[in-house]
Formats: sequence, structure tokens, C-alpha cells
Amino acid sequence: MTEGTQSEDRSIPVHIAIILDGNGRWAKAHGLPRSLGHRQGCETLERIVEDCARLGVQYLTVYGFSTENWKRSEEEVGALMSLFRLYMKKLIRVANENNVRARMIGERSRFAADIREGIDRLETETSGNTGMTFVFAVNYGSRDEILRAVRHYAMDAVREGKTEEEIAALSEAAFSGYLDTAGMPDPDLVIRTSGEQRLSNYLLWQCAYAEYYFTPVLWPDFGRAELLRAIEEYNRRSRRFGGR
Ligand code: IPE
Ligand code: IPE
Ligand code: MG
Repeated sequence: MTEGTQSEDRSIPVHIAIILDGNGRWAKAHGLPRSLGHRQGCETLERIVEDCARLGVQYLTVYGFSTENWKRSEEEVGALMSLFRLYMKKLIRVANENNVRARMIGERSRFAADIREGIDRLETETSGNTGMTFVFAVNYGSRDEILRAVRHYAMDAVREGKTEEEIAALSEAAFSGYLDTAGMPDPDLVIRTSGEQRLSNYLLWQCAYAEYYFTPVLWPDFGRAELLRAIEEYNRRSRRFGGR
């Protein structure tokens, strides 16, 4: 596993994954509708993308909308879709100002055509950037991702007429290439806000050896200081990858 860049005596994780949570509780605490919590959460996201890029993080993967989140009220899902429309454009600017390449993971076909186009534009218009890769997980669920990968592999195997021996020789590295995160290193540090301590179907395969940092801070209140605390805590851990 590669070590992160050294900065101010800290080792910066190569890949940070964030499960942003607590927008709804933040709104409730401020007597506001949930949609305003999400809006505030988007602003936090912009700042964190900038902070991570400046710190030298190479990959930032943020969980924005899960495959399970469609079960929320029609009103809330509608508000989130409107926010995506708006923020997809804003993210192009934030990404380009910070030399950040943006990518989406998750299953896109369920989104309206204009949102899919927005995702395509965000990826194309930031593809020439050479700094941090920012990955936004929308309509993402790990089980869904793994199932799609298995189906894809099986279809390829049939089409290419693979033998039983060839199928039995499928390696972890080759299978990883079928996941949405193909080509990316696994997360080193996973941060979840709002006091919840679960993965909620996020990057199950990829987080096999990640370190976890849970904070009670609600996502709209998450800032650079809390990000640095998470990185400091990560630096205090002695990382093990089995067998040692
Ligand atoms: C996270 O905040 C944003 C999404 C999951 C879209 P929540 O909306 O889950 O906020 P809480 O958990 O209800 O406070
Ligand atoms: C996880 O948050 C999904 C995202 C952050 C997008 P949720 O708030 O939806 O997760 P649960 O329902 O508390 O597990
Ligand atoms: Mg939540």
C-alpha cells in the first residue's frame, strides 16, 4: 500500500472516502426543512473538495445518494434531484479551479436524462485536470455494484467462450476491474459524520482494510478542522493488512 504525501509531519491518506450524513438532523435542529439541510450539505462538500485537494489527497470518494435513498419521500427525492442539477454545474467550476478530475460511480440509468447529461458534462469538462480525483457516488450501493460486476464478468465469459479453468482463475485484481472504482486504489480512511457507525452499503469490497473515523458532527457542520482531526487519528493508527 502506498504511503500518502508528507505534509506538516502528517501522512495524508491517498484515498479518503466520506459517508456524509446528518443533513436532515441539522435542518431539524435549525427549524428548517430537510431540503435546506441538503443544500447546506452541498456547500460543505464544495469546501471539503477544496480542502482535500489542497492537502494532497489523491482520491476523495463521497457518498451522495444511495440505492436505498429512493425510498425517501417523493418530496425529498425531488429536492435532492433539483440539487444535483444545480450542483453538477457548480462542481464543474469548483473542480476546474482546483485542478480536480470529477467522476461518478453508481448506476446512472435511473436518473432523468438531463441529470445524466449533467454527469457526463462534469466528467468530460474536468477530465483534463491532473490533481485530485473526486468521485461522487450517486444511486450507488455496493451490493448493486458487485452484482453488476458479476453480471458483466459472466457476460464477457460467455461471449469470449472462457473455459472453466479460466473462470476459476479469476483474480481479485481482475474482478476489481469490473467494479465502478476500476483503476482506483482502495480507501485508506473512511469518515462518517452524524454519529452513525455503519457502512450503509458503501464500498464494501474496497473498504476491506480501511481505517474508520466516526464523528458526531453533522455533515453541514463538518469543516477543515474536523477533517484534520480525522487525518491525525488516522496517523495514530498502526495500519495492518493481515498476516503481520
Ligand atoms: C445525508 O443526510 C444525505 C443523504 C443521505 C442524501 P441525511 O438526509 O441522511 O440526514 P439524516 O440522517 O436524516 O440526519
Ligand atoms: C447513507 O446515509 C447514504 C448516503 C450518505 C448517501 P443514510 O442516512 O441514507 O443511511 P442510513 O439509512 O442511516 O443507513
Ligand atoms: Mg442519514
